[in-house]
Amino acid sequence: MPSPSDFELSRRDLLVGASASAAVTAMPAMAMAQGAPAAVSGDSEAPVLSKVSFEVNGERRELDLDLRTTLLDALREHLQLTGTKKGCDHGQCGACTVIVEGRRMNSCLSLAVMHEGDAITTIEGLGTPDDLHAMQAAFVKHDGYQCGYCTPGQICSAVSVLEEVKAGIPSHVSADLNAAPEATGEELRERMSGNICRCGAYSNIVEAMTEVAGRPA
Ligand code: FES
Ligand code: FES
Repeated sequence: MPSPSDFELSRRDLLVGASASAAVTAMPAMAMAQGAPAAVSGDSEAPVLSKVSFEVNGERRELDLDLRTTLLDALREHLQLTGTKKGCDHGQCGACTVIVEGRRMNSCLSLAVMHEGDAITTIEGLGTPDDLHAMQAAFVKHDGYQCGYCTPGQICSAVSVLEEVKAGIPSHVSADLNAAPEATGEELRERMSGNICRCGAYSNIVEAMTEVAGRPA
């Protein structure tokens, strides 16, 4: 049976052990503060590269990417397609929306290596300044932007939304009405709700989309 002094010893040992481990933990920070290189914790920090090949705006592109690279960073930083914007980088604003295999997607939420073989369309692939896509022309006509930061994502989303409506893919609105989706203002607003515009160009965006959908405003 252990005596009280054994317990005393154990407690002291524990305290000595705890301070030693705190000192060890603090060593890299102290070393860095003194200008010495800190030991890097091995392989977990080393990038793991992988080849990925996809079609961007009709052109086959092949990249060697860190597995952690998002599709957004692959487009912007590796392919210099900076039309696609980084807003929140957390799937909350829609500024990074691109069209992948015909469906809109927040490119900040998807790893590039998951898109092997996919067809990706960015704002640069929808139209050119001399030959605008119908949605781009409608945004210009209806003042569907102010600062323009959200606009590439809004336009990519808007193009996809009209395709979704045409394909009869239901939203909360059409499901609630128990009806086939139509490009009504309410339907369009609901479907575009993931694209935030800090300038508040929402009604102009809906007007632009309504015109492209061929409905009376
Ligand atoms: S940057 Fe992707 S959703 Fe905001
Ligand atoms: S136009 Fe400025 S954020 Fe939408």
